[in-house]
Amino acid sequence: MPATPPDPQNYHPQEPSRRPRRLRSTPAMRELVAETALRPADLILPMFIADGITEPREINSMPGVYQHTTDSLLRAAHEALDAGVRCVDLFGVPLPEDKDATGSAAWNPEGVLNRGVQALRAEFGDDLLVMADTCLDEFTDHGHCGVLRTDRHGATIVDNDATLPCYQAMAVAQAQAGAHIVSPSGMMDGQIAAIREALDEGGYQDVAIMAYSAKYASAFFGPFREAVGSSLNGDRRAYQQDPANARESLLEVELDIAEGADFVMVKPALPYLDILHRVAQTSPVPVAAYQVSGEYAMIQAAGQRGWVDGQQVMMESLLSIKRAGANQILTYFATEAARLLR
Ligand code: PBG
Repeated sequence: MPATPPDPQNYHPQEPSRRPRRLRSTPAMRELVAETALRPADLILPMFIADGITEPREINSMPGVYQHTTDSLLRAAHEALDAGVRCVDLFGVPLPEDKDATGSAAWNPEGVLNRGVQALRAEFGDDLLVMADTCLDEFTDHGHCGVLRTDRHGATIVDNDATLPCYQAMAVAQAQAGAHIVSPSGMMDGQIAAIREALDEGGYQDVAIMAYSAKYASAFFGPFREAVGSSLNGDRRAYQQDPANARESLLEVELDIAEGADFVMVKPALPYLDILHRVAQTSPVPVAAYQVSGEYAMIQAAGQRGWVDGQQVMMESLLSIKRAGANQILTYFATEAARLLR
């Protein structure tokens, strides 16, 4: 027996509130009541500089993102600044033969990352903030974010405390090269205190620390491994956070702020908006979020196939990250999004 379709004439609501839809009626009205807006200056562009290349090299799994030469790095940074982006975050891709067990190319003033920082600072002065990634994984031959040792049961582990002096040397080298901000992303305990102390002792009291505080052991980092030519076999679950957990993010943030973090960060962004929201509700320092390589790759891949409107999904995802509470967003879309916002 087919059901009789309801007759709209018979529906007489008591007094439907027209409040919700009144405020959505026209573009002007929608703009009037918009609670969140993106600004180009909210966006931070992560960039890669590679040693030993003469032409920029596009990263397969990140269409539109390149391993740069110094020249192409400066050109792309100019494009970002022209679009209104005020900060870039630089990662180094050393030659395989320059990797070693401790990642010593990271604190070599002539290492690829430090040369890149120097070139950016020389080109832009204080007009464009230069942030440097302060982590060893691009520079170690085993690909871990710290130095290894064998524990008393014979297992190979990342040695937390032996890694800290390496981070200190790296941060000081980056400050010396001209970084305005260093960004420890290795998830070692005590890394913020160690780096703050080394920077202050080196006379770099003015260099800020953006702490990757709540960083999860995430499969969304996949394309990044290609981007930096990572040598990692295995995973980082013994030092990055378990995606099952929220509470420990609050502890990580609290510890990092107590140790001197000027910014805290949540990473990845979109799959962790709940974490971002919780952190943003209580943090007394600015809260950044990192829309990571896999988030970028998925939007690009679906956009290229025409399965979603890539540009709209890009803007919606960034707006959602901002709405959840991010003050700054690290995103490979920074230049493109900033252009649309101008
Ligand atoms: C580690 C680092 C990673 C990313 C930023 N810093 C990789 C990792 O922890 O495995 C990932 C960034 C991205 O995926 O866009 N130095």
